[in-house]
Amino acid sequence: MEKQVLFTIFGATGDLASRKLYPSLFRLFKRGELAEHFAVIGTARRPWSDAHYREVVLDSIADLANDKRQAEHFASHFYYQSHDVADAEHYITLKNLGEKLSSQYQTLGNQVFFLAMAPQFFGTIAQHLKSEEILTGKGFERIVIEKPFGESLETATELNDALSQVFDESQIFRIDHYLGKEMIQSVSAVRFANPIFEAVWNHQFIDNIQITFAESIGVEDRGGYYDRSGALKDMIQNHVLQVLSLLAMEKPETYDEASILEEKVKALQAIRKYNPQEALENFVRGQYVSGEFDGQNFIAYRSEPNVAPDSRTETFVAGKFLIDNERWAGVPFYVRSGKRLTEKGTRINIVFKAGQNSLFGTNEQNVLTIYIQPTEGFSLTVNGKQAGAGFDIEPLRLAFRHDSEYLGNSPEAYETLFLDCLNGNGMNFSHWQEAKRAWELIDVIRQAWDSEKSDLPEYPARSMGPRAAFDLLERDGRSWSWVPDQWYRERGLLGTETEIK
Ligand code: BG6
Repeated sequence: MEKQVLFTIFGATGDLASRKLYPSLFRLFKRGELAEHFAVIGTARRPWSDAHYREVVLDSIADLANDKRQAEHFASHFYYQSHDVADAEHYITLKNLGEKLSSQYQTLGNQVFFLAMAPQFFGTIAQHLKSEEILTGKGFERIVIEKPFGESLETATELNDALSQVFDESQIFRIDHYLGKEMIQSVSAVRFANPIFEAVWNHQFIDNIQITFAESIGVEDRGGYYDRSGALKDMIQNHVLQVLSLLAMEKPETYDEASILEEKVKALQAIRKYNPQEALENFVRGQYVSGEFDGQNFIAYRSEPNVAPDSRTETFVAGKFLIDNERWAGVPFYVRSGKRLTEKGTRINIVFKAGQNSLFGTNEQNVLTIYIQPTEGFSLTVNGKQAGAGFDIEPLRLAFRHDSEYLGNSPEAYETLFLDCLNGNGMNFSHWQEAKRAWELIDVIRQAWDSEKSDLPEYPARSMGPRAAFDLLERDGRSWSWVPDQWYRERGLLGTETEIK
């Protein structure tokens, strides 16, 4: 059913708005979720006209628009208001425009605010929305914010305190775009719709779990932000810990926001918080130096635009989390994420314990892999008999990948999340209790690294991270299940200097 709502976008001239917000709203428009009764006010400092704003919106949806009239009709719902977020007067102008559009489009007082800008302004904006009475309580009022949610437990708490003076937790939608991805949502389906997995999802059968978020791109044009953040805060604090909590949580009582949140928070609370020494032992970092891949040269992180030439920011993290509860006693959760790795790939490997039996001795470990992107699907390695004479056991792979037609139709992460927000469903958003715990776990690691003066381990661009990332598992008698660098090296596509012994 069509949603009746007024959107106000702070940061409307920015890259995020053009890349993600407008295309996602347009997809919802094409699906009929938005039709006649919605309007969008875009605000930012630049003095744009409505006409120019609409051109920008049309440009941003050009790839999706196959009907020009439909696209123009969509863009006609957009209005621009130049705005300084610290100036109270400007909020009065915004309020007047909002009231006018609200009655023109019959939006029933429902409002969604997108804060597509730097977090230091979140508190100021929220305060003004309240003091200038843009919030009226007539319809639903929700605020959508992007990461990063703070830079440490302390700054995140300040931010949360400022927001919660104005909005209830149920009105705050913190985006973690991974939670909108099809296959992340499938994790719960795999776990809880399949008795064969549900029965073995514990320390008795699982040897270890590996979560890899690999990117082949470098920092691109985000050097300024990234050099202050680094891989630990950019990826592990949010996306990786969210996925880990979905894999580790107990079965929720019902499949709804409150029950799932309760279980995710319990799982996060059970993750062992390291002391500084343990943090250094269980987490390793690295920074990419120049490298060669398939005949192409890639520059070092320190040579990227807006990155300090002596930067000590990590572009790679690998680590081991332990969960102190009955289900996961002794099962390590290995995580890794980095820029300029061999290949783009987000995947989860559930490595089962090797079978010991009197007939065949020790068998290969069964591995269930969940592919999140760029391909989506599952695979399971099982042991079978090698065809032919004799009786040898060999690992075989059962694989399922979604086909491209299915994928073409599956919604984009942001589109799913916006629709959830319009429906008031926060299930696939990050909540304060989760963010808070994640910062508690991450701060220790960050602080331990910050007080360490030794050289940062290096890895050549387009390899799978520094040697230390491999040692981390070898020390435990294990290894990473996914080794794309080996695959490329065997085919002569990756320089030999990165060889992992
Ligand atoms: C973002 C990070 O949250 O996720 C980026 O800030 C990263 O550094 C991106 O590139 C990865 O998202 P995706 O959907 O492209 O895998």
